[in-house]
Amino acid sequence: MGSIKIAPSVLSADMANLKGELDKIAGADYVHFDVMDGHFTGNLTFGVDILKAVKRSTDVPVDAHLMVTNPDETVDWYADAGADMITVHYEASTHLHRTLTHLQQRGVKAGVVLNPATPVCVLESIIDVVDMVLLMSVNPGFGGQSFIPGTIAKLHELKAMCERHDVSPLIEVDGGISSKNIADVVKAGANVLVAGSAVFKSEDPAAEVALLQKLGNEAAQEA
Ligand code: DX5
Ligand code: ZN
Repeated sequence: MGSIKIAPSVLSADMANLKGELDKIAGADYVHFDVMDGHFTGNLTFGVDILKAVKRSTDVPVDAHLMVTNPDETVDWYADAGADMITVHYEASTHLHRTLTHLQQRGVKAGVVLNPATPVCVLESIIDVVDMVLLMSVNPGFGGQSFIPGTIAKLHELKAMCERHDVSPLIEVDGGISSKNIADVVKAGANVLVAGSAVFKSEDPAAEVALLQKLGNEAAQEA
């Protein structure tokens, strides 16, 4: 397996056939699970019962992306339901350090997410703690949006911050990723790529995951 990880987002899956959809992405590195609460985002998705159903249906580790206003109070719900990695939004967390270290003490990988308008510099005091940083490359809420080009400059800035601190958290990018732009995103420093519509709206999701892994790993070798 290469160093680049692909995380298909079940937001774009056919929820009437969840097990079948998860079987198609058995070769993926993570299942990306988008939790939206109708407050932090103008959309409402799934909660812990669906997360438990995902965990019963696949061996692929679950990366839970919490787009909720109260992550400090609710992260344990998702840890209890079996999430392997949990990311919370910087914009929504009042006690980010406590929330992330709490998850880590429970044995769950913990990450922080930045919206497109939030600058990388806000991570200066937390970068030594996080297992992953997720940069949103669309405004959260919906699948199928276009990649925001300014994400590339943010990736360069984040890489430089990690080097200054001598740390190497996973760097995930979420929104508008496809076979057309994955190489650019990987070359800028990302190593976990979320892909919702690119995978689940394709004719052959398994082949699309394999293609994204191949293109991502090739780009990582060139970088
Ligand atoms: C957007 C979600 C994404 C979404 C990505 O708010 O966080 O994970 O599923 O979908 P695509 O890959 O279609 O942009
Ligand atoms: Zn997401």
